[in-house]
Amino acid sequence: MPCTVIVGAFWGDEGKGKIISYLALKDKIDFCVRTGSVNAAHTVWDGKNRYALHMVPAAFLHPKCRLLIAAGANVQVPKFLEEVQLTGVKDRIGVDQNASIIEEKHAIQDKTSAVNKGIGTTGWGVGPALEERVRRTAKLAKDIPDLKPFLADAVTEINDGIDQGKKVLLEGTQGFMLSLYFGTYPYVTGRDTGASAIASEAGVGPTRVDEVLIVYKSFITRVGAGPLPGEISKEEAQKRGWFETAAGTGRDRRSAPFDFDLAKKTAKINGATQAAVTKLDSMFPKCKGAKKLDALQPEAKQFIKEVESRTGVPVVLIGTGPDAMDIIDART
Ligand code: IMP
Ligand code: MG
Repeated sequence: MPCTVIVGAFWGDEGKGKIISYLALKDKIDFCVRTGSVNAAHTVWDGKNRYALHMVPAAFLHPKCRLLIAAGANVQVPKFLEEVQLTGVKDRIGVDQNASIIEEKHAIQDKTSAVNKGIGTTGWGVGPALEERVRRTAKLAKDIPDLKPFLADAVTEINDGIDQGKKVLLEGTQGFMLSLYFGTYPYVTGRDTGASAIASEAGVGPTRVDEVLIVYKSFITRVGAGPLPGEISKEEAQKRGWFETAAGTGRDRRSAPFDFDLAKKTAKINGATQAAVTKLDSMFPKCKGAKKLDALQPEAKQFIKEVESRTGVPVVLIGTGPDAMDIIDART
């Protein structure tokens, strides 16, 4: 898997952070590239601590992994500096010199905009910051003195890494159904969140991507406004053990059962070659902590088989608990 794109299948919060942190440790990933922006929080557990990362790539758990922020990403400088400190990665993280900057004024514009209130954005200002980039008035990472020690030519590093056969993970943020182009517009984020766009933000051409790993959760969640087919009530979600709150904003997540037709469609459009299913233990509590396929109860195995048969994509990783290592790795 020299170059792998990780993409979320639904409305975000599928557990990409957990899958990335596992791959980082297990496969000893050489480069992990964060795309998108501060609106997305990736949750990582290292056995002791829980991190909700808004800027630092989730592969930081592997101490030899070079961490990069993509040229197409949007950097919120105070959050970046805070997380670099928290994770202790200052000597191995780089920010592409052309990444753009989200400023406090963008968050204010986002929060006060009536349109955005209807959408229920995260309030971080991602939409206004991207607007400013399109107007070509945005500040870039190379304009910010605090980022000077971290400036990098990430696009060259990543492509040289691929040439050398290094293991490169391109870390998508949010989910495909929040894509500006393919999601439930206008209830979407300010960018395309699909696999092609993730590669594009990182500066990797489509022929250089080896695997697209699509991440499904065993049920679907959504924060903010917009359609959610099959949505169940908060009470029902609590009863089923599916009720979650957002890692970033703390808002309640809405929930719905797994949608096989949607899973098939998103696998196709993203060109998925592999799939992960997270939180299988939320649907089948007896699976908690399982490390082998054989340890799964028949209903849980049947669910995984159905995901494979209906999407046409092999399920290679199955999440069975919050820790990075609570996983069934079915890769050969
Ligand atoms: P924005 O990305 O902050 O502009 O918010 C637009 C929509 O995307 C809102 O419905 C947010 O709740 C949703 N959203 C943005 N980032 C994430 C994420 O990382 N996980 C889940 N939903 C997100
Ligand atoms: Mg999240």
